[in-house]
Amino acid sequence: MYVLGVESSCDETAAAVLRFEGESEADAGPRVLSSIVASQEDLHSRFGGVVPELASRRHVECIGPVIEEALRAAQVPLEKIDALAVTRGPGLVIALLVGLSAAKGLAWARGLPLVGVHHLEGHIFSLFLERDAANGDMEAAAFGGPPPFPHLAFVISGGHTDLYRVAAGGGAAHLGGTLDDAAGEAYDKVAASMGLGYPGGAALDQLHRAFIARGGTDAPEFPRPFLEDRPYSFSFSGLKTAVLNYLREGGYLRSDKTLAPWDRPQPIPEEVRERVAAGFQEAAVEVLAAKVDGAAKALGLGAVSVCGGVAANRCLRHRLMALSERSGWTLHLPARKYCTDNAAMIACAGGYALLREGREAFMDYLEMDADPAWELGG
Ligand code: KG4
Ligand code: ZN
Repeated sequence: MYVLGVESSCDETAAAVLRFEGESEADAGPRVLSSIVASQEDLHSRFGGVVPELASRRHVECIGPVIEEALRAAQVPLEKIDALAVTRGPGLVIALLVGLSAAKGLAWARGLPLVGVHHLEGHIFSLFLERDAANGDMEAAAFGGPPPFPHLAFVISGGHTDLYRVAAGGGAAHLGGTLDDAAGEAYDKVAASMGLGYPGGAALDQLHRAFIARGGTDAPEFPRPFLEDRPYSFSFSGLKTAVLNYLREGGYLRSDKTLAPWDRPQPIPEEVRERVAAGFQEAAVEVLAAKVDGAAKALGLGAVSVCGGVAANRCLRHRLMALSERSGWTLHLPARKYCTDNAAMIACAGGYALLREGREAFMDYLEMDADPAWELGG
């Protein structure tokens, strides 16, 4: 079965073609034949966040060429595609509608089924994509493999910091999430305050690595929001504010303003950026790792999967690997390239739904609408 996936929920226009080797969930064997991601980083970077109107316009320009490129790279003509899957929510409604309309049009024209996929379910299914050890992703090769059911799934992205208990058959029960900023959002705001563009998670990770490489030891101690009385909840806005205050006290931000370039009275030296990135990342990673460990133990779950853009963070990946070795749960990480938004994970979630429920369950989609606030697992 060939599945074409489409994703346009935020600032990436993506399409992918997957081949499923088997005919049941148990032997699905999804293989990624192509995964094309057109990032809009250049478009939004100077605004320090995604501008929905610009995002939607760029999606309209890119969606056709990106789908064509995915088919071409996979060497699978549209005539051979058996089904489509598209992100239906959550996300920016005017962005979602672009991918949804394109996918509906193609499915209708070819008489194919169309699965509307929840974006976070897509992230969870990034675990089921093959790992490409030959591509240098040895970490994921060592710690990969689909997690057994039930397992604890931790989705950490720009919009979500959510814990789920995932049962066999795709049911996910929501255990808790962030009370304010998502982890990725905190990364992005801290990065923007230092003029590192948007999104800034990877840049902070890189600065932290540079700090370690030069033997730095003077990282500031920022607060660790463990929220002991709320084991499945997270809060990162206090940590973010502590970092902004630190920058203000150093004279790198105006006291009454926050993130815009004109609020930085002087350039922030590289050495300060490294130190602040190290302090922030140490605190954030310590909390993320400790809370997922605590949740796995409290629920007696022997397997943990971590996905979403922040799961690409090398410091977090290493911390989790070390923790899993001594904590009695197995760790399941997607390849780094499938952590951030892509359409392979959407096609994967859609393909499993088709194998589980049959194509007839997905033929009635003309009325399907984007759902920008769709909740997974209630
Ligand atoms: O999953 P994703 O691509 O989009 C959403 O669904 O939100 O996640 C994007 C988020 C951004 O906040 C970005 O800064 C963060 O993931 N991110 C990282 C890293 N790579 C991406 N955060 C920390 N370290 C990274 N290496
Ligand atoms: Zn995402």
